[in-house]
Amino acid sequence: MVGADRRRAVGGDGGFFDLRIGEYEAHMSPWQAHYQWMAELLPDGIGTLLDIGCGSGLELDAIFERFPSLRVTGIDLSEKMLDRLVQKHGRRALTVIQDDYFSHPFKSAYFDAVVSFQILHHFHVEKKTPLFSKLYASLKPGGIYLECDYAAKTTEIETLCASECERRRLRDGITPGQFVHFDTPLTLEHEIQAMKAAGFEQVEVVGYLPGDNHTPMIKAVKQAG
Ligand SMILES: C[S@@+](CC[C@H](N)C(=O)[O-])C[C@H]1O[C@@H](n2cnc3c(N)ncnc32)[C@H](O)[C@@H]1O
Repeated sequence: MVGADRRRAVGGDGGFFDLRIGEYEAHMSPWQAHYQWMAELLPDGIGTLLDIGCGSGLELDAIFERFPSLRVTGIDLSEKMLDRLVQKHGRRALTVIQDDYFSHPFKSAYFDAVVSFQILHHFHVEKKTPLFSKLYASLKPGGIYLECDYAAKTTEIETLCASECERRRLRDGITPGQFVHFDTPLTLEHEIQAMKAAGFEQVEVVGYLPGDNHTPMIKAVKQAG
């Protein structure tokens, strides 16, 4: 396919990132080595990949460099981020979907790999486990999910972040369903538990890059056959 296939399901609240598109890629430039690392960890020979919260495609820049013909589906709420992605990679086999990855139905057993980069540190385990179940269902047997994101160092920090977020919600009259841009990462142990509860048979912490001890890469595998 030449030219990005673009689908807009619902508007959603992509406003936060729409407003920041001008400085976004420079702001994320310290993560360059992590994007490369994610691309290197993908198995040889993959044909289809889903990127949830793909944004402007910083991890996809590295992934397309390694797999120029990969069929990629990227989903994001922000129209401006997706515009930038299409500007860079619109001539690839790319489908972009402007929608909420929590509610969007993904194709079943279709993807060889799913990736997410710094998108899930705002959500509680009750939201993550059903999402991980959907990702599991969307993978072919033997498929892998790579996640690179912040983790809380201790359960105390996880609890403190969650309660501070709740305090601010109450203070500002924000309803439970409304998104708040406040970091509430889980510990690695809780993140892994959520992936296993969602069905992933193997989950491993691949590690950290040198000089960074708070952004682990996690690899979860759907058992083959
Ligand atoms: C920190 S950015 C990361 C983007 C990209 N993965 C990267 O590393 O450059 C988070 C992205 O997730 C998107 N996002 C947040 N919540 C979302 C949701 N529920 N569904 C779809 N996209 C979402 C935002 O619009 C934003 O583009």
